[in-house]
Amino acid sequence: MNIAVVGTGYVGLVTGTCFAETGNNVTCVDIDLAKIEKLKSGTITIYEPGLEKLFIRNQKEGRLHFTSSLEEAIKDAAVIFLALPTPPGENGSADLKYILGVATDLGKLIDPSAYKVIIDKSTVPVGTAEKVHVAIMKSATAAFPGVEGLEEAFDVVSNPEFLREGVAVDDFMKPDRVVIGTNSDKAIKILNDLYAPFVRQGNPVIFMDEKSAELTKYAANAFLAVKISFMNEIAQLCEKLGADVDMVRKGIGSDERIGRRFLFPGIGYGGSCFPKDVQALAMSSNEVKYNFKILEAVMEVNEKQKLHLLPGIKNYFNNDLKGKHFAIWGLAFKPNTDDIREAPALYIIDALLEAGATVAAFDPEAMSNVKKLLGDKIVFSASQYDALQNADALIVATEWNEFRTPDFEKIAGSLKNKIVFDGRNLFDLIQMEEMGYHYVSIGRRAILQPS
Ligand SMILES: NC(=O)c1ccc[n+]([C@@H]2O[C@H](COP(=O)([O-])OP(=O)(O)OC[C@H]3O[C@@H](n4cnc5c(N)ncnc54)[C@H](O)[C@@H]3O)[C@@H](O)[C@H]2O)c1
Repeated sequence: MNIAVVGTGYVGLVTGTCFAETGNNVTCVDIDLAKIEKLKSGTITIYEPGLEKLFIRNQKEGRLHFTSSLEEAIKDAAVIFLALPTPPGENGSADLKYILGVATDLGKLIDPSAYKVIIDKSTVPVGTAEKVHVAIMKSATAAFPGVEGLEEAFDVVSNPEFLREGVAVDDFMKPDRVVIGTNSDKAIKILNDLYAPFVRQGNPVIFMDEKSAELTKYAANAFLAVKISFMNEIAQLCEKLGADVDMVRKGIGSDERIGRRFLFPGIGYGGSCFPKDVQALAMSSNEVKYNFKILEAVMEVNEKQKLHLLPGIKNYFNNDLKGKHFAIWGLAFKPNTDDIREAPALYIIDALLEAGATVAAFDPEAMSNVKKLLGDKIVFSASQYDALQNADALIVATEWNEFRTPDFEKIAGSLKNKIVFDGRNLFDLIQMEEMGYHYVSIGRRAILQPS
């Protein structure tokens, strides 16, 4: 099948590459010319485990193409995926300018003799499929006055994406489920064929109406955000009551109704999805005069959680961080990605710099993105151990695997004192205590050494 993917970011590039991998002929289009030039020359633009191999193979075998021309991309496409940004607008609701802008452009290019399915893969508020339909029809009728059959020339379908950065290829190739919102039999047939190779093990393709599909995506992300903020609140309570969140987590996670996943406390959720999607769902609720109280609490808890380690850090250094130097391990919002959007590490860095401290950071993949943002405000270290040189303390902000069992003697030899603030609960309390570290983590007993 000929497929066009509009928007070649984290979702678009994975979507395009994975559809090419199952034998489709895919053209990805983006307005970022530099990105397209890079991709055309065979250089991948994001870090996503397993993606580069598929990207190179499918490009070599002539199934994966890149262009900056929307017209060229959609010319022979039976299916057009929109994988465009939906960032928060001024009031926090999803800004649809990218989606509706492309919808208007598509209207001008529509060919009434060649039916196409236009698929929203972006996370969009309820009612967007309808808005995209209206925008396409409006520009198509202006571009082709008096031409009949425009209404039948396309369907707009909602097909939200559930992939997780860091395991996006696996998630796309073997999705837990595929959600498709449409009432069009023609579109259902095409999408069933398209997704068949991905659900051979029997994972469901769930068809529903457009609105329910759009809401399903927000409901999924909001529910997961609730789970994270809930555990972060339990962790706070553990610290105050002297309980251990690791034990509580295990105790509740073995209940099948709760499940083991997504129960790890930390320094809050970040990324390009949870923060903006929770906010957008809250705004959508407000617009229909529904006060979605849990979401308000989830956002408030998460905002505070990002800086949860700060009071302990300040306290240790007698409320004076001026001239203190910190090592930070991890900048990405989670491991196995170079994505730094809303990363908690950035909030911590801001707070430290504001307080007059200096920072040396290491991240296996995300340093070049942070460099673009912060320039020389912090030092970017060549390795996790380089970052420790002469630092007053280590702060762990992202749970990359390589940080989990470090050489503690090397850490002790590089830091001025053995002080670790761990926002991801990577290390064993007893071991840290035996080694004489000052070790503060989340929701667990703090091991305090005199300052
Ligand atoms: N990143 C994720 O993990 C994830 C997961 C599921 C859903 N989503 C949703 O998918 C959507 C895309 O997210 P993303 O992370 O891939 O965004 P992204 O910012 O990485 O990529 C978006 C791309 O669209 C391009 N673009 C903007 N305007 C364009 C236009 N007019 N024509 C062509 N290209 C254009 C941008 O240059 C960029 O390359 C969002 O709605 C997001 O909420 C993201």
